[in-house]
Parts: sequence; structure tokens; C-alpha cells
Amino acid sequence: MSEFGERFQSADWKSEKHVPVIDAPEEVKAGEIFDVRITLGKEVAHPNETAHHIRWVDVHFHPDGTKFPIQVARAEFAAHGAAPDGPDSSGVYAHHEAVVQMKAEQSGTLLAASYCNIHGLWENTKKITVNK
Ligand SMILES: [Fe+2]
Repeated sequence: MSEFGERFQSADWKSEKHVPVIDAPEEVKAGEIFDVRITLGKEVAHPNETAHHIRWVDVHFHPDGTKFPIQVARAEFAAHGAAPDGPDSSGVYAHHEAVVQMKAEQSGTLLAASYCNIHGLWENTKKITVNK
């Protein structure tokens, strides 16, 4: 294993709590803003504690026929219960879910990535058809 991309893990989100689930319309109108919701642990909850949590999710869109994906947004989850009294003492936790709004002029593929501080990098994709 030598490439960065090979270190991304993927699986069926229904049984694997680390996979970023992409909720977005199958079809949108060109230039019209739509929601992309990224969730983790939709069926099997992922822990959210100081020692084990999701740090971020990343959303890219790769328009068909173009060379590279374009980063749309990134959500960083900064609070994981830590405070001066120690791990899991603050009671404050960022929940690992993000809603991003975007638009596009041509069809393409949404790419979502997530990072767990214990279990590494995970990915998922979803095809979006853009109607002119
Ligand atoms: Fe994990």
C-alpha cells in the first residue's frame, strides 16, 4: 500500500458506522441550490467521546468529463467532551453531521470523506444528475 487513496476505507453504511452517508437528490436543476446532508452511524451509532470520535467530514463534487474533483465544503467537529477536568468532563460534544448547500451546472459525482481518530479515513460517493 503506497497511495493515499488506498488508505480510504469503504463499506455498506448500513453495517459500518464510519461510512459517510450522503443524502442528496438524485436529480437537480442546473444552477439551483440543493442540500447535501452527511451523516455517520445512521444505522449503527458511532461513539462520540474524547478518546474516540469523528474529527471531520469533507465534501467534493466531480463534474462529469472534468479532470479533478472540486472541494465544496468541510465540517470540523472540534468539541469532544474534553475540558480542564479531563476527558469527557465538559458534557459538550459536536455531533458528526453536516448539511452543505451547493449548486452545479452539470452532472457529476459527490464524494464524501470522514475521519475517525481511531479508525482512519472513510469514503462514499453518490451520482447527481443535473438537468439543464
Ligand atoms: Fe471510530
